[in-house]
Amino acid sequence: MQLEFWLLFLCVQVIPHVQSAKKTWTVSVPPRIPALQSCCVVIPCSYSYPDANRKGIQHWWRGFWKKGNQIISTNLPHRELSKEYRQRTMFLGDLRSRNCTMLLDGVRSTDTGPFYFAIELSLGMRFSYIKNAVTIDIIREPKPPSLSVQVSDKITASCSVTHSCPAMPPKLSWNHRGSITQRSKKRNEWKWEMVSTVTFTPLLSDFNKTLTCTVKYRGGKVAQNSTIIHI
Ligand SMILES: *[C@@H]1O[C@H](CO)[C@@H](O)[C@H](O)[C@H]1NC(C)=O
Ligand SMILES: *[C@@H]1O[C@H](CO)[C@@H](O)[C@H](O)[C@H]1NC(C)=O
Ligand SMILES: *[C@@H]1O[C@H](CO)[C@@H](O)[C@H](O)[C@H]1NC(C)=O
Repeated sequence: MQLEFWLLFLCVQVIPHVQSAKKTWTVSVPPRIPALQSCCVVIPCSYSYPDANRKGIQHWWRGFWKKGNQIISTNLPHRELSKEYRQRTMFLGDLRSRNCTMLLDGVRSTDTGPFYFAIELSLGMRFSYIKNAVTIDIIREPKPPSLSVQVSDKITASCSVTHSCPAMPPKLSWNHRGSITQRSKKRNEWKWEMVSTVTFTPLLSDFNKTLTCTVKYRGGKVAQNSTIIHI
């Protein structure tokens, strides 16, 4: 009897709680995100709103990224943006899929934010997720990539960098011919890793030569790392 009473009590307590969670305005964004100056950065964003799972409701789907009162990006094609951000932002997310991801290009030292997302669904259904603003940490120069080399009868060298702009990732290249493979990995919500591997059979003439990996970022910044080939 007592157990049943407690189970009933728990159900009564738990179910309304779960339902009320669906009635809130929530957004998921990283509070801070690093970005390389002159390069681009993708701010991953997903949001929810009351009754998001109810079907058949007509919405306007107007999304805005803002800094204070300034609109820096929107999904509305003809909406005028502030001069500072015009043609530098792209609204990548699909609002119907609750995706509010934004890209900022040509990152400047002044682009620290904080930036926040705001949605207008219909009359009276609007919300600014101002408490979940995103600050951008501007990195002036890229770090040299990490380089590792394995020598057997072949030389296999790997070069890796992390970045925050999966829409326009850095390009990695080698100063030596060989078979090159490249892969991209998501390290966390905003951090991506790009790895390039070159494999070649060394010739005697390669001995003591420098093997260099060059990374070119969107916007033109370059970083390098090198190693000497010892066979
Ligand atoms: C949101 O949209 C971006 C850009 O299209 C996409 O890369 C990302 O995977 C989407 N996120 C989710 C959670 O679907
Ligand atoms: C080159 O790569 C190595 C191995 O990853 C790393 O330890 C080193 O710091 C890099 N060179 C520079 C100049 O950062
Ligand atoms: C390799 O390079 C080092 C430094 O440049 C030089 O001292 C050495 O003589 C070179 N060895 C050969 C075999 O070329």
